[in-house]
Amino acid sequence: LIVLGVVGAGVGVWVLTRPPIDTVGEVSFDRALAVPPLAPSTVDKDGRRVFELRAQAGQTDLGRGEPSATWGYNGAHLGPTLRAKRGEQVVVNITNQLGEDTTVHWHGMHLPARMDGGPDRPIRPGETFAPRWRVDQPAATLWYHPHPHERTETQVYRGLAGMFLIDDPDTDVATLPHEYGVDDIPVMVQDKAFDDDGQLTESGRFGSEIGILGDSVLVNGVPGPYLDVTTTLVRLRLLNASTARIFNFSLSDGRPFTLIGSDGGLLDRPHQVERLMLSTGERAEVLVAMRPGERVVLRSGPPAPEGDFATRRFQGGGDRFDVLELRAAATLKPSPAVPSTLVAVPRLDPASAAETREMRFSTRDINGRKMEHGRVDAVVTRDSTEVWTVRNGHGTPHSFHIHDVQFQVLARTDGGPVPPLLSGWKDTVYLPPHEGYRVIMRFTDFADPATPYMFHCHVLRHEDEGMMGQFVVVEPGGAPQLTTHHEHGG
Ligand code: C2O
Ligand code: CU
Repeated sequence: LIVLGVVGAGVGVWVLTRPPIDTVGEVSFDRALAVPPLAPSTVDKDGRRVFELRAQAGQTDLGRGEPSATWGYNGAHLGPTLRAKRGEQVVVNITNQLGEDTTVHWHGMHLPARMDGGPDRPIRPGETFAPRWRVDQPAATLWYHPHPHERTETQVYRGLAGMFLIDDPDTDVATLPHEYGVDDIPVMVQDKAFDDDGQLTESGRFGSEIGILGDSVLVNGVPGPYLDVTTTLVRLRLLNASTARIFNFSLSDGRPFTLIGSDGGLLDRPHQVERLMLSTGERAEVLVAMRPGERVVLRSGPPAPEGDFATRRFQGGGDRFDVLELRAAATLKPSPAVPSTLVAVPRLDPASAAETREMRFSTRDINGRKMEHGRVDAVVTRDSTEVWTVRNGHGTPHSFHIHDVQFQVLARTDGGPVPPLLSGWKDTVYLPPHEGYRVIMRFTDFADPATPYMFHCHVLRHEDEGMMGQFVVVEPGGAPQLTTHHEHGG
């Protein structure tokens, strides 16, 4: 099947040479979902919680008959779940046992730029870097992944990714399911393409304008997984850790599920939804109500009919995947009712904004500029609030992700409704072709004129190709003075 399509003004004619992928009915769900282990930690003499992460290569059974070459932290594939409480000091000793530079970026974390794992601070092969910071933000599902110069897509794709959960008595809701691996489940979803030898392939058949689009889906590294559910409500912490693909989740019988959280923590109240679209890097916490003995499948299918054409075309949105089968036990332990309100999400006030900026995401640039290490694209004053209009000026899907802060969505640029997923704290938002958002954020605490934070498209190939900018937080009246740590090329 050859599909010819004309997509987006000025983009021209694209030739797609594959039919949509349709795995419905083909996934056998014969493997139990693996739950990433909680990373062990020790408390040092200064009371800091210390974790160890080793980035390493290995071999993993990804269901292809023979082991696939993969990368992972403290193992052959993916990484353990780090967990810390608000207020704790954490230290992570990261050792690079790979044959190339890497970094570890704490996606969604509020922390000093020097600890943030940006591409300006590579960890060389054999070296150890020990970022340390005080966790100070609401309870949330964050994640970590590499962010090296021009190699992020490859390193994440090979398996470097893990979750970082923050607990906080003030913004946790005790009546929500919260027993890790029992009724509170990390669900890291990634698509993969394999060659005929069962190895991950980064190019070829499924390569596209936005990078790798795989033909199979792994959850926590497991193909075709099922989860045994033992409670009437199960909480799924969904993370789209793919390099490019957008997932559009639903349940196989079309039943609604309850959205309770987004990137930066819980929402102010639960929302019943039937579909949930997550672009790469985004998270959502949902509750699924189960009846004894039943099975229901978490799927990703094409966008709803009103979904935009270009998204479907470029993100492989015609593709359907069975992601995870939920299998309820014959008897289920009753979960507490879902509260009608969750946490306070104090609204940031646009009238308090000290600065407004426009960020236009085009082919592979932001405002016509590609990433440059020595250049600062935005100078932000510590403890100030800013409103940014982040817009996709292009026919290809992009997204907006910013380091250090969580933002709130004020409005859609076309005036349309803002979906429930964007009603709370966000650090990543999908920018459909020719659309965007006005977002508001407050930059607190960490002035450092010497070290930049990043903002970028989270389609990782786009990021690697330079769709990224740098901002620096300075004291009032201060100016950036970058010191460079990177030495690239060669
Ligand atoms: Cu998840 Cu700058 O990235
Ligand atoms: Cu992009």
